[in-house]
Amino acid sequence: MPDGQLRRSTTEDDITASVLARFAATPDPRLRRIMLALIKHLHEFVNEVELTETEWFQAIEILTEAGKMCSDKRQEFILFSDSLGVSMVVDLIGHRKPEGATESTVFGPFHRLGAPEMPPGGNIAHRDSTGIPTLVSGRVLDLQGKPIANAELDVWQTQSNGLYDAQDSTPNELHMRGKFHSDSDGRYLIRTVLPVNYPIPSDGPVGAMLKATGRHPWRPAHIHFVLTAVGFDSVTTHIFDRTDPYLESDAVFAVKDSLICDFTRHESPTPEAAKLGIAGPVYTTEFDFVLKPASANAQADVHDAQRRLAALGAR
Ligand code: BEZ
Ligand code: FE
Repeated sequence: MPDGQLRRSTTEDDITASVLARFAATPDPRLRRIMLALIKHLHEFVNEVELTETEWFQAIEILTEAGKMCSDKRQEFILFSDSLGVSMVVDLIGHRKPEGATESTVFGPFHRLGAPEMPPGGNIAHRDSTGIPTLVSGRVLDLQGKPIANAELDVWQTQSNGLYDAQDSTPNELHMRGKFHSDSDGRYLIRTVLPVNYPIPSDGPVGAMLKATGRHPWRPAHIHFVLTAVGFDSVTTHIFDRTDPYLESDAVFAVKDSLICDFTRHESPTPEAAKLGIAGPVYTTEFDFVLKPASANAQADVHDAQRRLAALGAR
């Protein structure tokens, strides 16, 4: 190359080096770290699989299709993140918990702001006529086992037909959602219906990916919770039914052993169920939530995630 002539990128490695150099002066150190690692890994990935132009265009089509599917009722990018296991890696990095504290798991795309406040024993499944009545109870505790009073439990679940309210016939009405508070002993009591397993939405690009890779879309039966209490870190989590056949193969990799519960069937109502007016068979389960003392930002992060999800669809 004659002196003074600009050096052009000629090999894959030259291009990677040029792109990295172009981003090297990014002023924000965190953004610089993310961009440099993103380019390094993206280029390595393309090189490793020797991506063809057809495959590259297919990726563009898939992402375009995912964007088009997103609405106030559907978040295809969260589904991609969840079904590729990325959400759980982010969760594990961001929510390392001390021994004994309740573990977190995926937030998922179906949380909605504005769940109604409910008294102890309030029924989140008041419009569900086919599910089996179920009482979920337990305590909210600190790491020393002391009760946490007035903790908020924001709860959501599918109906017994396996659909969230936003996926069903009256998508604008909130159902299977409620906000409960622990009493002075840290106790809470929620009335619902037995959670069922259900497939994540699979009529879009995520479904096509699952099908093409021989994967099923099913999630084991679970109930979602976000717990918040003054002075403690919030936790976004689920409880799972121990008998569910999909515990080992959750489509979004979100099962943790410590979150698996026994749902016990009673052929006639327990005294507590009778008090709530439940006449026939009922399931009960107990789960104690254990919160760790507040660390900087954690509370804000959970509420930020809720607001951001809501804003994505401008609900
Ligand atoms: C859910 O449990 O609501 C969910 C989580 C991840 C993807 C789809 C659904
Ligand atoms: Fe769910």
